Amino acid sequence: MTGSQSIAIRPAHDETGREYFHHSSGQRISTDTVIVEALRKQYPELNVVVSPQGSCNLLAFADAGHASAIPIEDTADPVYAPIKWRQYIPPARRLDHGAGVLADFVLFGKYVYKYNGHEFLLYVANGRDGSSAYPQITNNYILTKEERPADELIIAATKYGQELHNEVWVFDGGYWQKSGELWQSVQHSKWEDVILEEGMKKAIIDDVENFFDSRETYKRLKVPWKRGIIYYGPPGNGKTISIKAMMHALYKRKEAVPTLYVRTLSSFAGPEYSLGQIFSKARREAPCYLVFEDLDSIVSDSVRSYFLNEVDGLRSNDGILMVGSTNHLDRLDPGISKRPSRFDRKYYFPDPSLEERIAYCHYWQGKLSDNDDLDFPDKLCTAIAKITDKFSFAYMQEAFVAALLAIAVSQGAPNIDMYAGPEAMSVVTSRMSSYTLVRDDPGLDDLVLWKEIKKQVKILREEMDQ
Ligand SMILES: Nc1ncnc2c1ncn2[C@@H]1O[C@H](COP(=O)(O)OP(=O)(O)OP(=O)(O)O)[C@@H](O)[C@H]1O
Ligand SMILES: [Mg+2]
Repeated sequence: MTGSQSIAIRPAHDETGREYFHHSSGQRISTDTVIVEALRKQYPELNVVVSPQGSCNLLAFADAGHASAIPIEDTADPVYAPIKWRQYIPPARRLDHGAGVLADFVLFGKYVYKYNGHEFLLYVANGRDGSSAYPQITNNYILTKEERPADELIIAATKYGQELHNEVWVFDGGYWQKSGELWQSVQHSKWEDVILEEGMKKAIIDDVENFFDSRETYKRLKVPWKRGIIYYGPPGNGKTISIKAMMHALYKRKEAVPTLYVRTLSSFAGPEYSLGQIFSKARREAPCYLVFEDLDSIVSDSVRSYFLNEVDGLRSNDGILMVGSTNHLDRLDPGISKRPSRFDRKYYFPDPSLEERIAYCHYWQGKLSDNDDLDFPDKLCTAIAKITDKFSFAYMQEAFVAALLAIAVSQGAPNIDMYAGPEAMSVVTSRMSSYTLVRDDPGLDDLVLWKEIKKQVKILREEMDQ
């Protein structure tokens, strides 16, 4: 090194390095370490097996009757009694008039836990380590003589947690959660309530049912057993109710096909993470029906390539039937909407034709048939259908509901909940007194329902034209 002096390193002990390492080696907070160390000291003869409660909820498993968990009250040192958050969980719907339940969320607790003839000591502790508020971690600390029975317990409780009990898997907020509410609503969704052109209705049902019947055929043809379908069209014409009726039919098959229902990709860890979670669960649950409601809002430009990567990347998607609904086919990337093998078939749900509107009126006629006070002859169906040109089914529904409410209110029915669904509707109709008299052949203008529907259709049409 000519012309340059080597730099003298001073002092011999690197102060800067020492400062840095000192600065970077503050005590980490780890609840796990603290607890495991304490348990090992307290029970040197036992093994400590740690298992996160998120995937293996031992207390819920015991609550469901598969094991028992008896709390240990610490009489010697009551300060260390269990810590719980008690929360009131209201009924899912106010309309159900349920009482709701009180639920305890254990932050710290000790139990004698029995499963399958084996006894364990169980500690449950919530450790909100570091500054991050999410995710919270609660762990099970299982103290056991042998590890094998604890392993069996973990497997059984985890499997139990993954099973559905009158629930549907819904992806929302970044993770899969169970929805009992969606399950309930699907139980009321039936194909006979969906009015569509016969050929199209048959095709959309067959498309899905045949897919799940045809595993062997796909195999013989050496093509991957996967399929994608899009339902598109203007709002309120049956995309969602068709998906729900399909879900119901799939649960009713000899071997039930589960639905995985995706509401949004947004999550604490970003949409790419969500897509990974969604497809790995779909592969695990396959054969399954994977629903993306509002596909255009789910698969935005920024996540398109991740989506395609999951759909036709290297991993097998055998047994997955995807269905996506959208109002805006044009807003979907052509890579998604125009390439078979991703979404192979598309069904258009248009505003109903005259015949379909007549059929829809007959559907309402059937719904109201047990109301002797309301006159609803066949010719009213045709008349209503004729004045509702360009109406969606949802608009037609609104015309009926608003007209029936107006009639009921004019007769003094108090406090009707407009959003209460079919049960409340029967209250509404039963409150109608003999305002309209049943006659052999009344003229249209004698019918209260006709007069009221005409009014409502006018209001709705003005709203539509705005
Ligand atoms: N084809 C149909 N047959 C019978 N009722 C229908 C039909 N389409 C819509 N309806 C009525 O309108 C309501 C809304 O329909 P749905 O939610 O299926 O519309 P959608 O096509 O999913 O609309 P969006 O594009 O806004 O999501 C349904 O609950 C139902 O009462
Ligand atoms: Mg919809």
